Amino acid sequence: MADPELHRPHRMLRRRGAPMLLQRWAWLPAASALVLLLPVLFLHQGVEALPLSTRGRWMVDAVSGQRVKLRCVNWAAHMPAVVPEGLDKQPLDDIVARVAALGFNCVRLTWATYLFTRPRYENLTVAGSLSALGLDEAAAGLAANNPFVSALAVREAYAEVVRAIGEAGLMAVLDNHVSRPQWCCASNDGNGFFGDLFFDPEEWLRGLEAVATRFRGSPQVVGMSMRNELRGANQSEAAWRRYVTRGARTIHRANPDALIIVSGLSYDTDLSFLAARPLPSRFDDKLVLEAHWYSFGKREDWASRSPDRVCADAAREFENRAGFVTRGDDGSSWPLFVSEFGVDQRGTNRADNRFLSCFLAFAAERDLDWGMWALQGSYYWRNGQPGFAETYGVLDANWDLPRNPRFPERFRLIQGMLQDPDSQVPAYLIIYHPLSGQCLLADDTSNVVLGDCRSRSKWSYGGNGTAILSAESSLCLRTVGDGSPVVLSPSCSDDQSAWTMISSSGFRIAGMDAGGSRLCLQGSSGDSPTVETRQCPCLGDPICSENPQRQWFRFVPSNVVV
Ligand SMILES: *[C@@H]1O[C@H](CO)[C@@H](O)[C@H](O)[C@H]1NC(C)=O
Ligand SMILES: *[C@@H]1O[C@H](CO)[C@@H](O)[C@H](O)[C@H]1NC(C)=O
Repeated sequence: MADPELHRPHRMLRRRGAPMLLQRWAWLPAASALVLLLPVLFLHQGVEALPLSTRGRWMVDAVSGQRVKLRCVNWAAHMPAVVPEGLDKQPLDDIVARVAALGFNCVRLTWATYLFTRPRYENLTVAGSLSALGLDEAAAGLAANNPFVSALAVREAYAEVVRAIGEAGLMAVLDNHVSRPQWCCASNDGNGFFGDLFFDPEEWLRGLEAVATRFRGSPQVVGMSMRNELRGANQSEAAWRRYVTRGARTIHRANPDALIIVSGLSYDTDLSFLAARPLPSRFDDKLVLEAHWYSFGKREDWASRSPDRVCADAAREFENRAGFVTRGDDGSSWPLFVSEFGVDQRGTNRADNRFLSCFLAFAAERDLDWGMWALQGSYYWRNGQPGFAETYGVLDANWDLPRNPRFPERFRLIQGMLQDPDSQVPAYLIIYHPLSGQCLLADDTSNVVLGDCRSRSKWSYGGNGTAILSAESSLCLRTVGDGSPVVLSPSCSDDQSAWTMISSSGFRIAGMDAGGSRLCLQGSSGDSPTVETRQCPCLGDPICSENPQRQWFRFVPSNVVV
């Protein structure tokens, strides 16, 4: 993860000349450790279906060929202590149980090259590493919560976390995050590109080989992220191609089962150079591309300009720089793992809040594989501070509860599989409300409400000016009036049942009342599930004082049974 204030993709963009298991009980109530543990028994998925391969834009179980969707959370282990974070706060098995209970099926576990290449780390114990940094409180917490890890050498502790991830039924992607153990990423931190101060390419290759070899027999290790966020003044496409090829060969030789996951340039925001010249090899259907997507670099736009416009621009830019790789027929498309995205989980950052709705809609529509930044609620040591809190952490500073209590609800749709390349079920549309994370459904009494996406209704829509039909009842959505709930109706051929996608992002769905006034579908701002039609604010305005995201709905294609 780049520091927001240091991350300036815009500037680099100009320089490079690039074109711009869904069970009902998985809901996570407060506290109860028992409830946290229960879903693990049922969510157990994947490990027996490994290894993974690629097929066109999908990652699939190499044996059955069925799609496996990565929905990961990043867990930092690359910081100066070179110990996976949080072991001072909770027992390891409880942490991995929480990861599973929160609906993730995988962990992107970071590592620093030096941990596996430098003799200094060979016999260093976890307790010794924390003490050497003066982190006595963390050392005491670790000894109390994970006494057996405390005495392990730091490399063994890393392996112990990989083991626990597998035992919880989760997959692991091991991500080479930095060379020298430290916070990542800045343009001039010496870890940015091959040949930078701490980034010796030969040592990096030795590290890849050591890690790939060490975890070759661990089926939960489904892939290796070759290097996080390549960046900086020394980056070049030619060197990228050269080293990516060598890195891929190294991983593939040492562990032919592992997916080989490749970062783009400019903080992993740019794969655009592959449009003209794709990679020459898929390494026996193991090669996956990765990209990162944050609000950084557009923070002011997100905070102050019309979200419809900013989202449309951001999505187009992401598509041009990375998303395009998943397009095209199976012969030319590649899997894309959005291995980092994230927001301030406290919900107090306006730019991040707005960005998140945009991201969720895009991720659902394309059914992206993704990895969220981050699991950790705290660090042993970061920015000179012991116990530094991670506001982007899914877990709170005590690694106990979700920092954002609405987390499970908000992420539910993208935690499911929406597109199955082998489905026999006819395609249908989901109508998704990313602001709440809920989906449009007809309840038992045919009221149209927002509710849990696991009980979503299926819809069909023929495009602008046509009716939105329930696939189950052949009733359609109908506008009644400004401030009135939208209804399900059998009369589907007049103006009040015709709907048009408007606004630059295409997120707003407008109908018409009996008097011919245009009104937008709108979700409630509070806990009421009502869906009504209201006037559509801020359509043409670049600056918008209201947040129109209550009116954001997205047609999401799906073909999976719910
Ligand atoms: C680590 O410990 C082993 C066993 O005591 C020893 O042989 C080895 O030299 C040590 N490595 C370093 C780098 O000190
Ligand atoms: C780029 O490479 C040069 C020469 O190897 C090095 O001195 C410089 O520090 C590198 N730049 C960055 C940002 O690391």
